[in-house]
Amino acid sequence: MNKVDVLLGLQWGDEGKGKIVDVRTPKYDIIARFQGGPNAGHTLEFDGIKHVLHTIPSGIFRENTLNVIGNGVVIDPVIFKEEIDALKPFNIAIKDRLLISKKAHLILPSHQLLDAASEQAKGKEKIGSTLKGIGPTYMDKTGRNGLRIGDIFADNFREKYDKLVAKHVGILDHYDNFSYNLETLEPAFFEGIELLKSLTIIESEKYINDALKEGKSILAEGAQGTLLDIDFGSYPFVTSSNTVTAGTCTGLGVAPTRIGNVLGIFKAYCTRVGSGPFPTELFDEDGEKLRKAGAEFGATTGRPRRCGWIDLPALRYAIMINGATELSMMKSDVLDSFNTIKICTHYKINGKKVDYLPFDIVDQEIEPIYEEIEGWNTDTSQLNSYSDAPTELKNYVDYLEQQLGVQISTVSVGPDRTQTLTHDN
Ligand code: GDP
Ligand code: IMO
Ligand code: MG
Repeated sequence: MNKVDVLLGLQWGDEGKGKIVDVRTPKYDIIARFQGGPNAGHTLEFDGIKHVLHTIPSGIFRENTLNVIGNGVVIDPVIFKEEIDALKPFNIAIKDRLLISKKAHLILPSHQLLDAASEQAKGKEKIGSTLKGIGPTYMDKTGRNGLRIGDIFADNFREKYDKLVAKHVGILDHYDNFSYNLETLEPAFFEGIELLKSLTIIESEKYINDALKEGKSILAEGAQGTLLDIDFGSYPFVTSSNTVTAGTCTGLGVAPTRIGNVLGIFKAYCTRVGSGPFPTELFDEDGEKLRKAGAEFGATTGRPRRCGWIDLPALRYAIMINGATELSMMKSDVLDSFNTIKICTHYKINGKKVDYLPFDIVDQEIEPIYEEIEGWNTDTSQLNSYSDAPTELKNYVDYLEQQLGVQISTVSVGPDRTQTLTHDN
């Protein structure tokens, strides 16, 4: 029986997962999302066009690949419909190529309002959520109140919807100074529900396991990143799902014994969007230079991303939690014009040198300890082969592999599908 390979982010999201899923899709029969929802923004670039996907798996553009939205995902019918509409010019047979789990949960307009109300009430301590209703939807899931895709076919769906909304309105009433108009949001929601009804809705756990038995190859596409994981991220500044390899098991219904290779994606530096700790964050010209060269503005919200140097203690932790067997280094071209590059190898906490990510990353003062290496100062975006890469870039890759103990099999030098170098040791 085949195994499910996993591709996920090792940092705070936006590592470039969408691009690498797209590059690897020809090797797979099925691409499956297992968690998160429209808080994700996965960018794919090819043939001079840039696509941003939120809920739909990044294999949707390849003709011979099926795409599954698993039970662990939360779906906003409004955003989902917008995504489907954006795909119309590309004549994709959506009904044949996209399969949606009956057990995936629905994001209601009132979930979004709850997200906004909660963030407003938190004031300066806000999470910096994407305001897509992710937290409240997962709360209803674990609170056993949620609505699922399978429910939309029930005769009493509207009744179920009204009951849950009444509960949400009761909660919203407790927030001071939060005004809203739910009625204006509802027509688009029900339009999205009608669209969903017309698509292929399946028992995805059975489908995926049958596919494995038939020898099909499957790639699970993670959203967000390990440091945003609800259990292992920089809590409470995290998202509300398990973004790590283990999330594949619960989010698709595959047993741990069915997990194959785990490809961890990381940027050659580090970014974060939203609030929360970021030990290697830069507030100087270098940070500004990274943001500019890397076009570091959110694919979902357009917010400027916070930028800093690569953080090895955090990466080692992420590799450990995920059991990463292979790595992809993204956006190395963004470092093309730096004379020197800094690498955080350890943290200094209370005068002590540590090489791991501690529990109280949020409240403790963490001082990064850096090694400095020479930059390559060359345009790498046009490289066709890793063997032609400048020595300093190769030194950077070798150094990271030695520090992280896992092979960096891909080096990405630009956003386009073709700007991808294979690195065999
Ligand atoms: P994801 O959420 O992990 O899929 O990543 P995003 O799409 O949110 O953010 C990654 C951004 O970097 C997108 O704008 C990509 O087009 C872009 N990108 C991906 N790989 C590279 C690369 O190697 N170099 C550069 N310069 N940009 C890249
Ligand atoms: P992709 O899949 C980067 C961040 C938000 C916020 C926190 C909680 O594109 O890598 P949420 O809306 O989930 O309740 O927000 O998580 N966040 C992301 N940051 N990339 C993402 O997804 C993110 N999804 C959520 O900015 O700090
Ligand atoms: Mg993104």
